[in-house]
Amino acid sequence: MSGKPDIRPATGRLGVLTPGLGAVATTFMAGVESVRRGRSKPIGSLTQMATIRLGKRTENRSPLIRDFAPLARLDELVFGAWDPFPDNALKAARHAGVLDARDIDPIADFLESIVPMPAVFDNKYVTRINGTNVKKGKTKRDLAEQLRQDIRDFRTRNKLDRLVMVWCASTEIYIKAGPQHATIEQFEKAMERNDDAIAPSMLYAYAALMEGVPFCNGAPNLTVDMPCLVQLAQEKGLPISGKDFKTGQTWMKTVIAPGLKARMLGLAGWYSTNILGNRDGEVLDDPASFKTKEESKLSVLHTILQPELYPDLYKDFSHVVRINYYPPRGDNKEGWDNIDIVGWMGYPMQIKVNFLCRDSILAAPIVLDLALFSDFAHRAGMKGIQEWLSFYYKSPMAAAGLQPEHDLFIQQTKLKNTLRHLMGEEQITHLGLEYYA
Ligand SMILES: NC(=O)c1ccc[n+]([C@@H]2O[C@H](COP(=O)([O-])OP(=O)(O)OC[C@H]3O[C@@H](n4cnc5c(N)ncnc54)[C@H](O)[C@@H]3O)[C@@H](O)[C@H]2O)c1
Repeated sequence: MSGKPDIRPATGRLGVLTPGLGAVATTFMAGVESVRRGRSKPIGSLTQMATIRLGKRTENRSPLIRDFAPLARLDELVFGAWDPFPDNALKAARHAGVLDARDIDPIADFLESIVPMPAVFDNKYVTRINGTNVKKGKTKRDLAEQLRQDIRDFRTRNKLDRLVMVWCASTEIYIKAGPQHATIEQFEKAMERNDDAIAPSMLYAYAALMEGVPFCNGAPNLTVDMPCLVQLAQEKGLPISGKDFKTGQTWMKTVIAPGLKARMLGLAGWYSTNILGNRDGEVLDDPASFKTKEESKLSVLHTILQPELYPDLYKDFSHVVRINYYPPRGDNKEGWDNIDIVGWMGYPMQIKVNFLCRDSILAAPIVLDLALFSDFAHRAGMKGIQEWLSFYYKSPMAAAGLQPEHDLFIQQTKLKNTLRHLMGEEQITHLGLEYYA
């Protein structure tokens, strides 16, 4: 054992702030409340349901993660949000159409009490949405200051000990890092002159970090990836992570692709298509927002399969991703994957996956885990990019010059070993020779 570092205890209440009060955010909040009232189980959440093995297999020590690491408890969570639509979480949850009335009605009072604060919103960055619950300010800097004030007010009003922010708002148009994002000074100047390269999501991330709040990015926008915000997180001693929750099709990819590679089977092509009909689907129908999503989805296979190491198996495979907005499906997405694989002596085979998933049902426990783990990481003195949380993201952040890790099983090992490390337990290497000595 390396000795448990000083981890601040999870005393008092933890505020979870979400820019965006749409399908994912309301499903997350409703689910937590349902669990708190004993109406459902936190299925899909590692912080609530997973165990972690400690020591040798013969020791039979496998506590629940939440009993092992000092995480905030669900009854200590308080929720707040911003959204350009003024609907409270009850109306928003009904509009999202993810949950049935039988799950919403018994917690209607709770959902009704979550009313979104006016958002920093500009439909230059999310073109398919026009809301009225929007802040006004002369400069982007003014808007960021208003967000900071919201955070402070929320903290005081709810007597919170700590806060975390998880971006659950729409996917913005694709913006690459430019000189405006190089340093915090340049970023602040760019805010002051209302530079187009500063998207609303970056203002939320800036406000969070300036207020001492860890930030997680559930959408594919390059928000907290910008060098200036990575630097700010380092300076302020705050954990950040992103980007793009790994839920349906990409999660499947990160399960199947490591399997193909483990068996040294080749890949000729992977064609993925989806139909979905929720507001996210509508936003992604705009080519500029889809470009952001596409960038995030495409990188996965290359990083897992490493064509540069295995040219005979993975050089030049074709990878196509399509998302089609199809309103009748609502939040119940359907994805098809056609995978053309290559076996012994070059013989082709095919795998077909037809995944009828519920996007927000898969995303909600990810929001919960990210909130709890980021708060824990903060109390444990972790700062900057939290690579151990890549498990939850389609396009994980990594240090400059480092390939992100996409393989779900390596990500899971990294997550659990980080928990062991932080709690002063031995790393598990799976070598296992000691059992046969
Ligand atoms: N559901 C999933 O499985 C999944 C997976 C990966 C990523 N995501 C991402 O999570 C995000 C949320 O998804 P969703 O299904 O809840 O979408 P949604 O459209 O139901 O909700 C997004 C909400 O964000 C609001 N919004 C837009 N711009 C905002 C701003 N600047 N400030 C505050 N609010 C703003 C919208 O009005 C909307 O209510 C999207 O970016 C999506 O791409 C979702």
